[in-house]
Amino acid sequence: MLVNAKEILNRAHQEKYAIPHFNINNLEWTRFILEKCEELKSPVILGVSEGAIKYMGGNHVVVAIVKSLIEDLNITIPVVLHLDHGSSVESCKKAIDAGFTSVMIDASKFSLEENINFTKEVVLYAHLKNVTVEAEIGHVGGEEDGVADELAYAKVEDAIRLAKETGIDSLAPALGSVHGLYKGEPKLDFNRMKQIDEVLQVPLVLHGGSGIGDDLIRQAISCGISKLNINTELQMAWNASVREYLGTNSNVYDPRKVIKAGEEAMKAAISAKLSLLGSINRA
Ligand code: 13P
Repeated sequence: MLVNAKEILNRAHQEKYAIPHFNINNLEWTRFILEKCEELKSPVILGVSEGAIKYMGGNHVVVAIVKSLIEDLNITIPVVLHLDHGSSVESCKKAIDAGFTSVMIDASKFSLEENINFTKEVVLYAHLKNVTVEAEIGHVGGEEDGVADELAYAKVEDAIRLAKETGIDSLAPALGSVHGLYKGEPKLDFNRMKQIDEVLQVPLVLHGGSGIGDDLIRQAISCGISKLNINTELQMAWNASVREYLGTNSNVYDPRKVIKAGEEAMKAAISAKLSLLGSINRA
């Protein structure tokens, strides 16, 4: 069942567990994630970056793949189709028009005023169409150095203004996580996370969920994190298995066999995350 993120995130926030956001790259990844989450009865958010949308052929292709898999595989869990890091109002509107049920407007690189203005515009458009909106404050770093820049941490007062003035459904405050692999232990600012959560009572999102230790993730959930974004860990699990398979099966050329070689490892990584987040049997 394709839904927006409101109900499942609000429930997760109230009951102190988190919904997994897994990034998808193609048909097979989408199928592996849906099958495992259905088996374990966990709601799931399928995150699609602008790069992945382009890779797959466009917004309509993504929507068609997700809707068709839900139908043909008889998927009954709540599934959210979410634009990850929408870089402009236009990009969010296009995803919404094509049938995405949730979007992230990432205007975090702009000034607070601009971030508020862009986010407000997306919220106005999205809510009319029953689509939920996530925004970012502070800035979650990239793979360049694997360490978060402390200057990029979200300020509590900025987070509060962004959420209150825009009416967003969830907020991703940058508080020490980075996309991709970490150098050393991530330094998450749980104090600020808690403060933001207590004032806002809006589900919080943790980006850069790969490579954060289980204890830190549990602590983050207790401080208001209701959605954990995971991309790199699934890529690595799939990749290691496929490399091993190709190493011992050098005569294989059928792409179905190659892609499938990573299925089991990917599904094992998904199961482990769902049990860590506490989202099993919440569908
Ligand atoms: P990772 O690749 O570090 O898991 O981050 C994913 C993410 O935050 C997508 O928005």
